[in-house]
Amino acid sequence: MNILLLGSGGREHALAWKLTQSPLLTNLYIAPGNAGTAIVGINLPVSVNDFSAIKTAVLDYQVDMVVVGPEDPLVNGIHDFFLADPDIRHIPVIGPVKQAAMLEGSKDFAKRFMIRHHIPTARYETFSRSTISHGLLFLKSLQAPYVLKADGLAAGKGVIICKTIEEATREFTGMLEEERFGAASAKVVIEEFLSGIELSVFVLTDGKNYKLLPEAKDYKKIGEGDSGPNTGGMGSVSPVSFAGTAFMEKVEQQVIRPTIEGLLAEGIDYRGFIFFGLIKVGDEPFVIEYNCRMGDPETESVIPRLQNDLVQLLQSVARQSLDTETIMVDPQFTSTIMLVSNGYPDAYEKGKIVTGEEEIKDSIIFHAGTTFKPDTGETVSNGGRVIAVTSYGKTMEEALAKSYENAAKIQYEGKRFRTDIGFDL
Ligand code: AMP
Ligand code: GLY
Repeated sequence: MNILLLGSGGREHALAWKLTQSPLLTNLYIAPGNAGTAIVGINLPVSVNDFSAIKTAVLDYQVDMVVVGPEDPLVNGIHDFFLADPDIRHIPVIGPVKQAAMLEGSKDFAKRFMIRHHIPTARYETFSRSTISHGLLFLKSLQAPYVLKADGLAAGKGVIICKTIEEATREFTGMLEEERFGAASAKVVIEEFLSGIELSVFVLTDGKNYKLLPEAKDYKKIGEGDSGPNTGGMGSVSPVSFAGTAFMEKVEQQVIRPTIEGLLAEGIDYRGFIFFGLIKVGDEPFVIEYNCRMGDPETESVIPRLQNDLVQLLQSVARQSLDTETIMVDPQFTSTIMLVSNGYPDAYEKGKIVTGEEEIKDSIIFHAGTTFKPDTGETVSNGGRVIAVTSYGKTMEEALAKSYENAAKIQYEGKRFRTDIGFDL
């Protein structure tokens, strides 16, 4: 079968790498892809949000399935777009319909869903411009630190954690009155602060059945020891040592099952990946956020541990026969180190020539923000996150040591990376 994969990051290179290992695959197209996906498949110059161009590509290249990497096209309704068009409605889209993607697209929607289905999450209230004064009273009823969240998609930057009530008051009014995050902060969720350790849990669901994938831990801060501003993610590891059997059992009973059953009960047909952003408080799981897709850079450590044929798994999602599949997980550890551009996560440099990949034998290189230089065809940086280096190991230490050894072999001007991924485990 022919598959079209949407996206252009490290997550998509990892998915592409895995999909092309399947004997069920004929051609893999990636739109728009990066310099890494061009090696395993065929890149198409089509934007993930240009649905009519995606339809044209699907028909021109006889695509049998569309796999959506990032959240944007899902929240914009790509799955609904396919279902509404008689020419393409028969082509399965892996990724939820718009209504279900609102679990990521609206924090308020996600919180209300969790409350309806008794899924553990931080106490909260949602406010708009007309209820600012109520919001300020709610803030005063909470203890510091204060968690403020723009309701809509804000490219991972919509959460502000304030140390003092003065700062929280200023930020809260700024978000609503000055629309600091544009339409995304037309509503703001104020949430109780939870103190614990975070992890990312993933399931694949066909709307009725679900399968748990390996869990991972992501390192979001730019600086060593989790300091400085948030990024898209500077590295990841899998498995997560503090997510033992008893804890994961709680996650399944208290979070995953009620989510899948809640979607079903509400008549929401969810076919795709669900990413549960969890925090472990004491021994209890709480949901920090839902994402309607896989994580990046978690995918780069999770997918290499998945031993199943991914094309077959996705076919079972489309056919709603995921109950016939058994997930097989490589017991080895994986680590992913993200190499980023100078300046990231603020304004960063692009167009730097990337070399050294051919020297690497015992790690997997997933491209994130790369492209080909038009005149010479050389690989150049094209994003904040440039290259992910993933390695296996019998221990976490071994997996990390290999990734660091090989991270040193990739060269480009202004290369930056955290040297302490996995430090807290
Ligand atoms: P989110 O975009 O919802 O994942 O939030 C970004 C980050 O903010 C999370 O990864 C957490 O580190 C932090 N965060 C969000 N909500 C809370 C909360 N209720 N308590 C503590 N930290 C939080
Ligand atoms: N690594 C976090 C995310 O993909 O949102």
